[in-house]
Amino acid sequence: MVRRFAPDPIPDEVLISILETAQHAPSAGFAQGLEMVVLDDPGQLNSFWELVDPQSRKHGARRPSLDERSDVQVRMPSFEGDPPVVVIPYSGKPHYLERYSQPDKHAFGMGTEEGWPVPYWDIDAAMGVMLMLLAAVDEGVGGWFFGIFQGEAELTRWLGVPEGFRAIGAVALGYPSPEERRRGSVLTRGRRPLKDVVHYGGW
Ligand SMILES: Cc1cc2nc3c(=O)[nH]c(=O)nc-3n(C[C@H](O)[C@H](O)[C@H](O)COP(=O)(O)O)c2cc1C
Repeated sequence: MVRRFAPDPIPDEVLISILETAQHAPSAGFAQGLEMVVLDDPGQLNSFWELVDPQSRKHGARRPSLDERSDVQVRMPSFEGDPPVVVIPYSGKPHYLERYSQPDKHAFGMGTEEGWPVPYWDIDAAMGVMLMLLAAVDEGVGGWFFGIFQGEAELTRWLGVPEGFRAIGAVALGYPSPEERRRGSVLTRGRRPLKDVVHYGGW
């Protein structure tokens, strides 16, 4: 994961290619339930961070000064290291319930949520995110998946997300800042040895 970004925008064709790759993730019944909300307007991005991580906006905050002229579209300044794009991947449960109510799937009894052993809508959304991150790396773009721990209900309302869809987190995308350094758990914990993780012939 890259957590500190350069301010350079991502060219449209590069972003489209990353999003399109995510759309090629496998999905149960080929339901293709992943939906993605893309935020790339600085004002919108600022509102996003205010909702999900208000603390980060307060540190050394360069508070945006609102322009009082109503004919001027106010563009909030971004904070140093902010990503130029945030993609919010939505897990699309309604697509799955609808898909598994169709004649070729009806017999599985998965037309209601209770019929599912695990929520494939979340699994498929995660598969899409993984492809998004890999496609970003291929394009020289940095990606950062992070959880949304607060403000989700308000975010959902603000973005006009329909009933039944749930953000599984968010993906920040942008070119890595020259100041980006590996940090976080990956440095302190180390990778578990393969022999501890793989269980041949039984656990
Ligand atoms: C489901 C999931 C949730 C994560 N949530 C966060 C998060 O909220 N904040 C964060 O900085 N990184 C988050 N990460 C990134 C992990 O910390 C990171 O993938 C891990 O430390 C390994 O580092 P690497 O991806 O750079 O190899 C998350 C990753 C996953 C898969």
